[in-house]
Amino acid sequence: MEGFFTRKQTESINAGAGGRVYTCAGCGLYRHCESPRMKPYGEFKKGIACVGEAPGQVEDERGRPWQGKAGRLLQRTLRKYGVDLFRDCITLNAVNCRPPDNRTPTPEEINHCRSVRTWKALQQYQPRVIILLGSAAVESGIGHRWSGSRSDNLAKWRGWTIPDQDLKAWVCPTYHPSYLERSGQRRELMTLWEGDLDRALEKVKEPWPRSAEPEIEIVDDLSFLDSVAGSSGLMSFDYETTAIKPHAPGHRIRAAAIASRPDHCWAFLMPRTKAGRAPLRRWLKNREVAKMAHNIKFEHAWSYNILKVQVRGWEWDSMLAAHLLDNRPGISGLKFQTYVNFGVVDYSSDVDQYLRSAPNAPEGGNAPNRIDKLLKQPSGPDKVLRYVGLDAVYEYRLALRQMERLGWDFLPF
Ligand code: URA
Repeated sequence: MEGFFTRKQTESINAGAGGRVYTCAGCGLYRHCESPRMKPYGEFKKGIACVGEAPGQVEDERGRPWQGKAGRLLQRTLRKYGVDLFRDCITLNAVNCRPPDNRTPTPEEINHCRSVRTWKALQQYQPRVIILLGSAAVESGIGHRWSGSRSDNLAKWRGWTIPDQDLKAWVCPTYHPSYLERSGQRRELMTLWEGDLDRALEKVKEPWPRSAEPEIEIVDDLSFLDSVAGSSGLMSFDYETTAIKPHAPGHRIRAAAIASRPDHCWAFLMPRTKAGRAPLRRWLKNREVAKMAHNIKFEHAWSYNILKVQVRGWEWDSMLAAHLLDNRPGISGLKFQTYVNFGVVDYSSDVDQYLRSAPNAPEGGNAPNRIDKLLKQPSGPDKVLRYVGLDAVYEYRLALRQMERLGWDFLPF
């Protein structure tokens, strides 16, 4: 898989939609403050970056981040865990000029400042741990790479320690200390915040884990499934289909992938003949093969309605397990789970637009998506197979991690 810093992606940090270039002049905040373009500050002894929202009045007067009430709360709390904010960390902000009247910076201002200052600083310092304090910091550190939903919902981001594969650092979002100040340092919020900071700071000692590139083996003859069927161990599978639901006439499964290891999968376009699909049907029916999927009711419904087979041997649903482990809304999707667990951002942007059905279509979940249009493009089949393969591998990796965390004894290795 291409890394994040491909040409296209690097350009996207500096240029927004439609080739928009982000600059200080385009933002203009520097014209209205005492300390324009505030520099990152701190001795950075422990390799931690603390990213806040924007300088306030005191910071603007003194020319350094985190000098006011919120900064004092942050300093006191970090000290409990043996960290000195200005000696052990580098401090900077999503927006590095004070917005008038301390108003919240706009997403536009965050984009400008990310490009000019914040992202460059993170690349230059190469922190081991990046603590993102509040929504603006999350928007700055993650938002531009997150195509599905914006990063404005801090509730779902806080608390994760993300081994970010682009930044090669542990990215740890949490509340902004001003929010805790405004809440009167409410006990429950303080407990969550301190827990988040504690977990983040623990990561200073832990090596950042590189996520290995999975091998996606593209196959067209499925007879090999008859020989893997007897082997014990967990197998994940994932379909790409013409809609979310299979019930309207004409819907088809176009591609599928099966993983039996965390680093490898087989990916294939669905064979057009009954004989070609027969090994898959036998494999699905075989209760000796322990199976998993991310949201098994999807794969089950498509297998039943289109391939006319009842899937046997269901062992794990990584979406359900994600919800069991953490029941916050909006976090159990595979893309979100892949990022927060393995630090891999947005491996689906090539195909996303084709796999979405029209919102509010009268057919509901049975509304067709545009996968067939994508498959007709010269590179379409490869894109779909790579995408379905990555889904199968990431859900497999996720299941292994969940089993470990839940103490489940079905560990095939
Ligand atoms: N709040 C922030 O977000 N950053 C600072 O530097 C100070 C207060």
